[in-house]
Amino acid sequence: MAVEVHGGSLVNRELKGNDREEALDHAKSLQKLEISKWTISDLELIGIGGFSPLQGFMIKADYERVVEEMRLKDGTIWSIPITLPVTEEQADQYQVGEEIALQGEDGITYGTLLIEEKYTYDEAREAENVYGTTDIAHPGVAKVYEKGNVYLGGPIMLLNRPDHGEFEDFYLDPAETRQLFSDLGWKTIVGFQTRNPVHRAHEHIQKTALEAVDGLLLNPLVGETKSDDIPADVRMESYQTILKHYYVEDRVRLVIYPAAMRYAGPREAILHATVRKNYGCTHFIVGRDHAGVGDYYGTYDAQDLVASVEDELGIGIFKFEHAFYCDVCENMASAKTCPHGKEHHIHLSGTKVRELLRNGERPPKEFSRPEVADVLIKGMKQA
Ligand code: ADX
Repeated sequence: MAVEVHGGSLVNRELKGNDREEALDHAKSLQKLEISKWTISDLELIGIGGFSPLQGFMIKADYERVVEEMRLKDGTIWSIPITLPVTEEQADQYQVGEEIALQGEDGITYGTLLIEEKYTYDEAREAENVYGTTDIAHPGVAKVYEKGNVYLGGPIMLLNRPDHGEFEDFYLDPAETRQLFSDLGWKTIVGFQTRNPVHRAHEHIQKTALEAVDGLLLNPLVGETKSDDIPADVRMESYQTILKHYYVEDRVRLVIYPAAMRYAGPREAILHATVRKNYGCTHFIVGRDHAGVGDYYGTYDAQDLVASVEDELGIGIFKFEHAFYCDVCENMASAKTCPHGKEHHIHLSGTKVRELLRNGERPPKEFSRPEVADVLIKGMKQA
């Protein structure tokens, strides 16, 4: 039996066929609101059910309880506010009860919103509770402060999915991944989130998890990331390369996760697990400093927070210790399995790796598969 959808049943707020044509026609007569790429990705995930049970952008009662207690107003676990920010001037243009058209800067109408509420919020409280800091050097917190300070809440309809360009072949919505798993005969599936190329430590924890389940959903986030993360197109090529050379074809599927990265560490780990449950995963991997950035979170904070809601969440969490290559074990290992000193462990910082790649040098093969390194070197040259 397939894993349950979060909150009950898969949300589908997307119009197709004639209904869509009519809605697009009707949208021409509505007031417009230009929305950012970040908001378009949220709209898409609501529409296709990735964010089930959300039916739209959060109204105040949901928002408040999510910020304070990591729950929707009905008590369902939800860790990150999904909101539509506007400036006060913009908010003044629209009335509660009004339907508006949500447009990208490309002029495409991505959807509509029925405004149920307009409300202000406390930026510092959102930053502190969700990100654990009010430091604007944190990329997620910076977003909280730079956006407008009114939220529009209410149900949406998705009328156009964003164009995922060259990744379209790797795009499946949650209904489709659920069908795929059923067609493949996979009863247990582990989901893997990443915003990085797959290094040996990632490969190690994925394959260790895979030993215990039927299949792996490699589900890289390809929405907005911070500028020094490796671009999604380069990463996608690197994923295909590593899968071709080092994975069993019948045991893994590569599907994009079209969300924006929030860098909210522990709280984002819960969101990541929740969404993968909606995509049909029975298990999810949380390793070291999941969705972290800088030194804002402890190595295992994300695991601890996810563990506190794991039973209620309804998806099994595979928690992995910090993994590394040990030159005595001649193996990938962790503090749980390797008795040797740190001097035997291969550690490379992200900065060091980027420096090597930029200079056209492969990181050690104990850190990164050479085939992956070559894709990244080529990608860094083009960037
Ligand atoms: S992120 O999306 O969580 O920010 P990242 O690529 O850094 O992406 O990590 C993907 C997953 O692998 C996360 O669950 C993270 O905790 C885990 N991970 C990354 N590096 C290691 C490592 N060396 N040991 C154990 N887990 C790791």
